[in-house]
Amino acid sequence: MSQPRTVAVVVGSLRKDSVNRKVAKALAALTPGLTFDFIEIGDLPHYDEDVEAAGAPEAWTRFRKEIAARDAVLFVTPEYNRSVPGVLKNAIDVGSRPYGSSVWNGKPGAVISVSPGAIGGFGANHHLRQSLVFLNVPLLSQEAYIGAAFTLFGENGELVNESTAEFLKGFGQNFAAWIERILAEPAGKAAA
Ligand code: FNR
Repeated sequence: MSQPRTVAVVVGSLRKDSVNRKVAKALAALTPGLTFDFIEIGDLPHYDEDVEAAGAPEAWTRFRKEIAARDAVLFVTPEYNRSVPGVLKNAIDVGSRPYGSSVWNGKPGAVISVSPGAIGGFGANHHLRQSLVFLNVPLLSQEAYIGAAFTLFGENGELVNESTAEFLKGFGQNFAAWIERILAEPAGKAAA
């Protein structure tokens, strides 16, 4: 049997009790056909071209290698002031350079936004999509806005909302199928 496809999970929150991380973990548990690896972004120095020219910091190199080594990428993000948290934007910028060596190029991806609010991080989700389209990440078109997120988990961090579990299960299946479809393209999207 072939190995499951690997997915780099990038969570846009550094908070220990992050509800975004809980959603990402729930999706991973509900998608047995994929292997999800959580990639650290909190230690990445702010992107600075002068620093790149002088020699990339170890954390940037580590991050780039970890993304490049996976078949696909999943972003799970909170909304900060109707956009993505700065730490996530920085991670995207770090992965996009040096120019011509972006680790995002052609990698199949998906976006989930999660918020305790009613509109599920819609603004962050679409700002993120805008960057990812520019970076030639072939994105699963299915939208995922998880609202009222503080009501969805029990005391031990377990997902207790059945309709959210059903939604995530379907989303995971669709993402797995999307990854296969993109990776099967002979030239790949990376040629674009
Ligand atoms: C927020 N929060 C927030 N929520 C939202 O739905 N829309 C928004 O624009 C904002 N803006 C915002 C700015 C800043 C600076 C902070 C710290 C927070 C609330 C946010 O959704 C909440 O803190 C979530 O719990 C963050 O997700 P994690 O950390 O639980 O994964």
